[in-house]
Amino acid sequence: MINPESLANLHAQCFSTPRPWSSKEFQELLLQTSVHLVSNNYGFIVGMLMGSEAELLTLAVDPQRQREGIATELLQEFESLCRSNTVKKIILEVVETNIPARKLYETNSFIVQGARKDYYSGANGIKVSAIVMVKVL
Ligand SMILES: CC(C)(COP(=O)(O)OP(=O)(O)OC[C@H]1O[C@@H](n2cnc3c(N)ncnc32)[C@H](O)[C@@H]1OP(=O)(O)O)[C@@H](O)C(=O)NCCC(=O)NCCS
Repeated sequence: MINPESLANLHAQCFSTPRPWSSKEFQELLLQTSVHLVSNNYGFIVGMLMGSEAELLTLAVDPQRQREGIATELLQEFESLCRSNTVKKIILEVVETNIPARKLYETNSFIVQGARKDYYSGANGIKVSAIVMVKVL
């Protein structure tokens, strides 16, 4: 899963809030040298490495292959990439109501650092808060 079209296809299957990203958006994002893709046949992570910090920008797993440990594997691979680039802290934002993702991150030792009220706009214009989670490596 390495071309922007495949990434956008899977993203569209996985997200409504935040809205799915287009293949053009993936293409432009991945041109940035700080942006890294970790992927396998069923899922991917896009993250940005900025010195001692990294931001996990998005994570998606094929809906047909969820609960098989794929996100956990991808997170481990992303963490290895971070460690080998001397990143000390990974940060991410997750939709407050996204219980599967919040459980995944908790299980993988991310802790809640705070919240960003009304951070996302849902499909119907309703605002949804983000939870900020952090993992110190
Ligand atoms: C969140 C997501 C990435 C999880 O991917 P996954 O490959 O199914 O996750 P894993 O199989 O590695 O799950 C690891 C642990 O996370 C938790 N978890 C994952 N999905 C869960 C669910 N639907 N309900 C409750 N807990 C869940 C569990 O603790 C799970 O361990 P267990 O299966 O032994 O109970 C996937 O559901 C997804 O792509 N969702 C849509 C996109 C999204 O929300 N991305 C994250 C945005 S920040």
